[in-house]
Amino acid sequence: MSRALPPSSGEIDIDENRRLLNRYRYIAHEGLPVLAGWLPATARFELKCELGRALWEDTQHVNALYLRLREIQSPAFQKPADAALVRLMQELLHAPDELALAVAFWRVLKPALHTALVAHEGATFPNSDLPSVYALGHIVLDLSRQVARVETLLDAWEAEGRFSPAVAAWESHVRALLRDAGGVSGREPRGTVPAPAASVWRTFVPAVEAARDERFTDLGSVGRVAAPPPEDAYEEHTVFEFERYSSEMLAAETVALVMFHHFENMPWEFIVDAARHLYDEVRHCLMGYEWMRRHGTDPFGTPQCLNIFKWRSQFRPVEQYCLLTMGNEVNAFPYRHRRVEEHRRAGNRLSEQFVRYDIADETQHVRFGNRWLPELLKAAGESRSPEQFTADMMEIWHREYKSGRLQLQVE
Ligand SMILES: [Fe+2]
Ligand SMILES: [Fe+2]
Repeated sequence: MSRALPPSSGEIDIDENRRLLNRYRYIAHEGLPVLAGWLPATARFELKCELGRALWEDTQHVNALYLRLREIQSPAFQKPADAALVRLMQELLHAPDELALAVAFWRVLKPALHTALVAHEGATFPNSDLPSVYALGHIVLDLSRQVARVETLLDAWEAEGRFSPAVAAWESHVRALLRDAGGVSGREPRGTVPAPAASVWRTFVPAVEAARDERFTDLGSVGRVAAPPPEDAYEEHTVFEFERYSSEMLAAETVALVMFHHFENMPWEFIVDAARHLYDEVRHCLMGYEWMRRHGTDPFGTPQCLNIFKWRSQFRPVEQYCLLTMGNEVNAFPYRHRRVEEHRRAGNRLSEQFVRYDIADETQHVRFGNRWLPELLKAAGESRSPEQFTADMMEIWHREYKSGRLQLQVE
């Protein structure tokens, strides 16, 4: 029995298809360093988590478009020959504040991208171009959920009066830039005169201190963290253990910074791994939040240990990456495995499950470290061998971090 194929629209031919897919890829791709740069500087906790999640999701989108594009153009990654689109994406980093940044992404750019992808799905040849339709359909699903999640947050913050006047000014600037680019597709009417420079435009300086919102009452590592309960004091130590998980945002912030600084000179596969790495750390942080909420404690009251991020940020990005992966992450496994055994013995299923998932993620992070550290060293122009470099950095890590001046068992 033969089955009728859906009618071919074919409004978009293969050359136009290639041009459009390249624009979608470029928009998603160029958004990544912006989100990564802003993650440590963003104070509002829920927004910081969404930046981390979007970094990972958007990396999947770029990758899906990359896999399709490499079938129809070479090289797969090409800068669009549209100065207005390039300008739009370059401007996003210079948002006046984090809520203006969020509005530019989730009220302007991503809804426009969503609309363009939906239109594309129905305008290309559905059978001949099925691999594109398949990729776009999945991206559309992700984007609609992502936009809905962030829009819920933005609506609430706007209603609470958290938007500065610069938010509206930035939103209209970004809308004007998008119009100048002919929209996401480049096929919409463009403005006759390019949008002027925005008065609220801000020079972007990567954060050297991690931002937290006003709900966090203890930004340091004083009090309880200074004297962790011994591991054999099971109940007390378990509280400590999950409080520490809640500060793993620090690791996400460090990986985001490394990604930001090396976005241009590292292979795409590194960006994919770094995005996963940093989003895992956001999830580990949220795992701590979930555990504490289930146990009736307020995660916002726990010490944030921001001095760890500040300490790491004094080093070059490649050094930060080495301190994190070869110091904290490589060395955490004996402790984590002891905790799994303790939770098992205590019949504490939730804690056991959480730590076992953490171990699975951290195993990948060490793999990422081993894979990418040699590449990062080359990109950073480092002359020492990976072995010598790691040995030198571990001396610093043992002397300045593990010695107790900063806290272990974070990240
Ligand atoms: Fe990790
Ligand atoms: Fe972690």
